[in-house]
Amino acid sequence: MIQINNLKKEFKQGKSNIQVLKNVDLEIQEGEFVAIMGPSGAGKSTLLQLLAGLDVPTEGEIIINNNYLHEMSERERTIFRRRNIGLVFQNYQLLPNLTVEENIAFPLHADGKSSKDKMYVITELLESVGLSDFENTKPNLLSGGQQQRVAIARALVNNPSVLLADEPTGNLDRNTAEDTLNLMTKFNHQYNQTIIMVTHDIFSAGFADRILLFKDGEVDQSISRKEENYAKYMANFMA
Ligand SMILES: Nc1ncnc2c1ncn2[C@@H]1O[C@H](COP(=O)(O)OP(=O)(O)O)[C@@H](O)[C@H]1O
Ligand SMILES: [Mg+2]
Repeated sequence: MIQINNLKKEFKQGKSNIQVLKNVDLEIQEGEFVAIMGPSGAGKSTLLQLLAGLDVPTEGEIIINNNYLHEMSERERTIFRRRNIGLVFQNYQLLPNLTVEENIAFPLHADGKSSKDKMYVITELLESVGLSDFENTKPNLLSGGQQQRVAIARALVNNPSVLLADEPTGNLDRNTAEDTLNLMTKFNHQYNQTIIMVTHDIFSAGFADRILLFKDGEVDQSISRKEENYAKYMANFMA
């Protein structure tokens, strides 16, 4: 479970401070798929950075599966991230000089797994993202959707409990976005991975169990698929 208590994040801008996250309180269950929406500048990416331990809060607590992120040193956060967090970005961020297989394997280098175990994991991941025939291909020869599937496989190679995705379908057309989201949903169900996905697109958000709407650094609305007014909410959004 992820608990966020009274979270604040300020950045210095010249002589003044801007409050990007003002007061975020959130609880996200293990295995939950949450979509975060909201206007540009609302602090969505900042929240993911804090959850990944790539930056530290100005105030407040982030507790992921009983690990107190806000109390860790930078080194502890790095180790925590390696073992527990998978990251996916809008622009894939693959290494262009490495093959598909090498990109997926990349996070394993920091780990002490045997090469036999590594091979097994990579073969299985290549298969489940539908890229078995492309293991020796360089990323720039792949379509956007294929590249994002490589990025998802790489994010999952250490079997993280939490997948953080910042606009993962932002560069993809509708059909490719749908394939990508189906894949994420499959992993979410199969491994009970918690997914937190930032998206601009209500169609993508519709794959999540719950949609959080951020506004001015705070959670403005939270609507779960199970709630009665979910369908009405979605219809309003689409209109
Ligand atoms: N490292 C940083 N230094 C200064 N300001 C930042 C930094 N990161 C983000 N910001 C500012 O914080 C605000 C929120 O950014 P961000 O979290 O990227 O919003 P969103 O992802 O919702 O569009 C923006 O005004 C942005 O300029
Ligand atoms: Mg952003």
